[in-house]
Amino acid sequence: MKLAIAAETVAGERRVAVVPDVAKRLVSAGWSVSVQSGAGVQAAFTDADYAAAGAEVSPDAASCLTGAAAVVRVQPLGVQDASFVPEGSAVLSFLQPAAAVDALRVLSAKRCSVFSFDLLPRISRAQSMDALSSQATVSGYRAALAAATHLGRFFPMLMTAAGTVPPAKVLVMGAGVAGLQAIATCRRLGAVVRAYDVRAAAKEEAESLGATFVDLGVSAEGDGGYARELTPEEVAAQQRALADEVAKADAVVTTAAVPGRRAPVLVTRAMVEAMGTGAVVVDMAADSGGNCEVTERGKDVVVNGTTVVGMANPPSGMPTHASALYARNVQNVLALLSTDGVVAPDWDDEIVAGMCVLREGEPASASTAELLGSTS
Ligand code: NAI
Repeated sequence: MKLAIAAETVAGERRVAVVPDVAKRLVSAGWSVSVQSGAGVQAAFTDADYAAAGAEVSPDAASCLTGAAAVVRVQPLGVQDASFVPEGSAVLSFLQPAAAVDALRVLSAKRCSVFSFDLLPRISRAQSMDALSSQATVSGYRAALAAATHLGRFFPMLMTAAGTVPPAKVLVMGAGVAGLQAIATCRRLGAVVRAYDVRAAAKEEAESLGATFVDLGVSAEGDGGYARELTPEEVAAQQRALADEVAKADAVVTTAAVPGRRAPVLVTRAMVEAMGTGAVVVDMAADSGGNCEVTERGKDVVVNGTTVVGMANPPSGMPTHASALYARNVQNVLALLSTDGVVAPDWDDEIVAGMCVLREGEPASASTAELLGSTS
């Protein structure tokens, strides 16, 4: 079974799908691992590291992908790389079908099976495969550090001979996996943290990390433990109640998301203007439209003295550990997809079925069928 790790081609992506330590484990498990030369270099893994782990280093994408029974990536394959994937191969990455239609058409014509971490069911048995969570942990940590480094003030309270410094006040909005890590990191740095979410379960989790939970009276539990989109009336009520909270904070970290939707706007331009000089908003949701009205993805925008940081692809900014965690998720999914030395998914398995975008070339859902212009 050849496993191909083709280099990432999306601009700004520094992670790699399999790190040498995991390559070694996969070789021990019977995989013949082929890595494209340079695939790990931006995450600080050299070709020599992969060779020492027992992987073959291929000079280019074509030679890496030729003959592969399985292909793993962080970002979806582009059309060119998809054209090198052999007939019937299994392909695993993050993938939003609507954003990868052309490559999916190529893979569908080759009867490939495509699996996406974005679609992984968030059930207990899938935790070791949950790349959404592993990468959100990295994102939350980085968002907290971005808030600390952009703020011209200390996070911790300090009592020094030169005077006493009060702790920074941080508001974390969205207390899912990333938000909880942001809370924990801000607390470790000594900030006083308040946290907000629309799911009731988030209260206890945020409090267990030392944050004070802000209850604004808007509850929006959706399917599968996720939040649902708020109604326009709920958004208006939320924004009225949030204005005061935002104005009191030195730094705001936003991580709110609703699966398959644009990120909800929680922080308006007026709220940013009211924060005043020296304050910081770190918007971790910039990739999906942003939680702040003035966010520009990948840029720092200054409004009335407040800096709004629009984080682009946050986990890619800490590529070594982000890749190491992702690789363990990949290893666990590959173990699920293969039996006795062959890729043989159990299509009745809840996790396999949940992650599946194409099953041997056929769309696995009506929405993907519609996207590809066929019926499932
Ligand atoms: P996410 O990335 O979809 O959203 C981040 C957070 O934003 C969520 O906590 C959500 O409630 C919040 N949010 C959405 N709209 C909001 C709004 N208008 N205002 C304020 N906050 C808003 O969520 P994530 O981190 O992927 O987690 C989703 C759920 O899945 C959580 O309940 C989490 O505990 C659960 N989970 C379960 C796992 C398991 O193995 N059982 C593993 C990982 C997550």
